[in-house]
Amino acid sequence: MKEHTKLKIFTGSTPNTTEKDLLLAKGILSGAVNTQGARESLKEYFRNTWEEDIFLFNRGREAIYFLLKNLGLKKDDEIILQAFTCIATVEPILWSKCKPVFVDIQKNSFNIDLEKLRSSITPRTRVVLIQHTFGEMVNMKKVREIVESFNNERDNEEKIFLIEDCAHLFSLTDDRIGKYSDAFFFSFAQDKAISSTQGAMLVVKNNNFFSSNLKQEYEELDELNQREATYNARYVLLWEKIKRFYYTLEIPLIRFSLGKLLILLFRFLGLIKKQAKVNIEKDCNIKKMSDIQAQLLLRQLEDWEVFNQHRQEIVTIYEDKLKEEYRTSYKKGDTLLRYPILSEKKNLIRKILREEKVIVGNWYSSPIYPLAWENLSSVGYVKGSCPNVETACKNILNLPTGIEVSKEQAEEITDILNSV
Ligand SMILES: Cc1ncc(COP(=O)(O)O)c(C=O)c1O
Repeated sequence: MKEHTKLKIFTGSTPNTTEKDLLLAKGILSGAVNTQGARESLKEYFRNTWEEDIFLFNRGREAIYFLLKNLGLKKDDEIILQAFTCIATVEPILWSKCKPVFVDIQKNSFNIDLEKLRSSITPRTRVVLIQHTFGEMVNMKKVREIVESFNNERDNEEKIFLIEDCAHLFSLTDDRIGKYSDAFFFSFAQDKAISSTQGAMLVVKNNNFFSSNLKQEYEELDELNQREATYNARYVLLWEKIKRFYYTLEIPLIRFSLGKLLILLFRFLGLIKKQAKVNIEKDCNIKKMSDIQAQLLLRQLEDWEVFNQHRQEIVTIYEDKLKEEYRTSYKKGDTLLRYPILSEKKNLIRKILREEKVIVGNWYSSPIYPLAWENLSSVGYVKGSCPNVETACKNILNLPTGIEVSKEQAEEITDILNSV
């Protein structure tokens, strides 16, 4: 195999950070940049696109929880969502004391199977949560038709609320987003399409479901304290250091390195946390997005079209050059956050790519990621209930599409994969 010396790719860890983001983060931490009022400016920015009620949160899961809390749900009300998802979508359901009902994905995509969605709706279903996995858009018009076929028969207090989970994509111009749902949200976590390392925006389009005044409920939410608020600016800088030293002084067999030592050290000092940490027991205190997060996001928004254009170009390389056996039946046209491939040789591929300094993603190697398979029952997932999900989990890897990977590198990755 030919030498691949240039690769150094971390699919998923702050893939969008540019020099401009690092400069801003330094400015925020040194006090040279005043972030006061940034959350309001961000809201105004989004108002140019969405005229409905806009709410900014610390995380996507808090946006979901905010909705569920205000929908007046009762214990054991059912909320339908697909398996092959992140624990972040399930936590708010459990915090609300509701019951997650997991539906299988289609055989030829990583999105919910609409016929199985239809047959999973029961008189107790109050919410349907639809996820555009990897950024591939679900046919929301069809979902709306399914939901309406039930809503037409129901009294107001029993109608189903439709939430669209746009965590894996971002666009200000794709008019499919939010067209058919009652509310939709984006996540701006460290591994998303644009990022403030943590953050989320929720747009509520249909207020008829809420007896409470959402704006007032939002105003009463807590702010992050000073230490929590600076976390995100520091995170940008710390991860830059971790990546820079990730392979420095690496001990070959155990693969320990200076970068890994930094991760352990920063975690020990509480400077970085595991983003997808599982928290199903403790309730969550919903927090507003901080001005620092908003400022970081305003910077990223300068480049959202550049990021998306780049992702499309990288996806095209994978589509055109990857061996047929890796291809999923993703349909061209969407901007993918990660490019999924399926292979029974997944572990071998991971190992080979790791030797070339490419760390590929593993969304979702468990039906409710990152929950271990033996713990799935703790969130109500029954093993064997979603066969397409389970097969996908066993064989999936995700290739990077973000600006961290150049076109040349995407071609190198393709060459490596094709030679396995
Ligand atoms: C599908 C999906 N929805 C929602 C979220 C919520 O993200 P967070 O709470 O980290 O902002 C995530 C996070 O990875 C996700 O993958």
